[in-house]
Amino acid sequence: MLNVDIDRLIAELDRLAHMSDAEAPAVTRVLYTQPDMRARAMLKEMCTAAGLQVREDAVGNLFARWLGREPNLPAVGTGSHTDAIPYSGRYDGTVGVLGGLEAIRTLQAAGFSPKRSIELLMFTSEEPTRFGIGCVGCRLMSGAIEPAACAELRDSAGARFDDVRLAAGFTGTLASARLGSDYYSAFVELHIEQGPILEDKNLAIGAVTAIAAPAALRVELTGSGGHAGAVLMPIRRDALCAAAEIVLAVEAAAKESGSPDTVGTVGICDVHPGAINSVPSEVNLTIDIRDVAPGPRDGAVERTRQVIDTVCAKRGVAAEIETIHSDPPAAMAEHVVRAVEQAAVAAGASCIRMVSRAYHDSLFMARIAPTGMIFIPCYKGYSHRPDEYSSPGAIKTGVEVLARTLRELSEA
Ligand code: HGY
Ligand code: MN
Ligand code: MN
Repeated sequence: MLNVDIDRLIAELDRLAHMSDAEAPAVTRVLYTQPDMRARAMLKEMCTAAGLQVREDAVGNLFARWLGREPNLPAVGTGSHTDAIPYSGRYDGTVGVLGGLEAIRTLQAAGFSPKRSIELLMFTSEEPTRFGIGCVGCRLMSGAIEPAACAELRDSAGARFDDVRLAAGFTGTLASARLGSDYYSAFVELHIEQGPILEDKNLAIGAVTAIAAPAALRVELTGSGGHAGAVLMPIRRDALCAAAEIVLAVEAAAKESGSPDTVGTVGICDVHPGAINSVPSEVNLTIDIRDVAPGPRDGAVERTRQVIDTVCAKRGVAAEIETIHSDPPAAMAEHVVRAVEQAAVAAGASCIRMVSRAYHDSLFMARIAPTGMIFIPCYKGYSHRPDEYSSPGAIKTGVEVLARTLRELSEA
């Protein structure tokens, strides 16, 4: 009998949610800031209390291992992230970390002793907030980013990633974070769906079969600026007017990609000098384009690049385009997806197979281990918003299905 202590878990999620640089109910927990470091300390304390062997790697990826009967076998991993983008919610990532710990404690309380060790992970920097690229910790683990390139990532203040992580107290070479394909026999991540399907269909569990392919660009537009009253329209080279056409072109490229799964977003638009009576001389944009298939995504990126060139030539504005990342989609491992489905049946939980449109650390864990994800419903599919919500009942079911899946995989 597996008894998830959901009251304890909800209280822990609540405690974590208050480790934030935003007023509740919003959560802001950015890489290596004080809320992030407090969250790490809390998690280490909880994992130690659960009798797990805790270690951190050179960038703060946290590993908490429940030793199995055969500790030399590759372990089964589970986990997610606790960093949170500005003014977001309290369940994105945290359900997979604290819920992963609760799944382990539930198995311990049921007297289960795993053959393979079961290891909880808290990945560093799943969100792209500080250094512009997501899953930094897992990219290093899986070889998806070269250590030298990672060291030189810059935040908005121009600080280098390597300097910031050392200042946060993490030591060792970045290369030492790399894990081989024999480190885990399987990896499973519990996460809120961040979409409306499960709730709309009144389903308890999503067995994820694939994770969509994300790409991101950074665009710097440089015009000529000047006095808002004195510079007449025919001679203007207004960087924000060029940006405005580009923002709409991103939307059009996603809508006209030929695939209903293509999405395009301009989430950041910084205007310089940002004065009411000054013609914008510079604009920095970020562009996020995704699809479950790389073809339509790459087509939308190419279309966007073409429009940037055309608009900038027409307006006499210069454009610098940097590809921040362009990742392939990830297929989940069939036997792990099946283990999730069987665990859902055993837990009496309805379950469907589905694709993840958000990316997760599992996008990169899939490169070094057979990987699966367990989705639970969230209110109206809302996420990356303060009103993100998943009910205690939904979370409890997700943790029980995770516990059953881990038990199955750790005996394989
Ligand atoms: O952007 C994403 O899909 C994830 O929330 N970092
Ligand atoms: Mn997120
Ligand atoms: Mn997430």
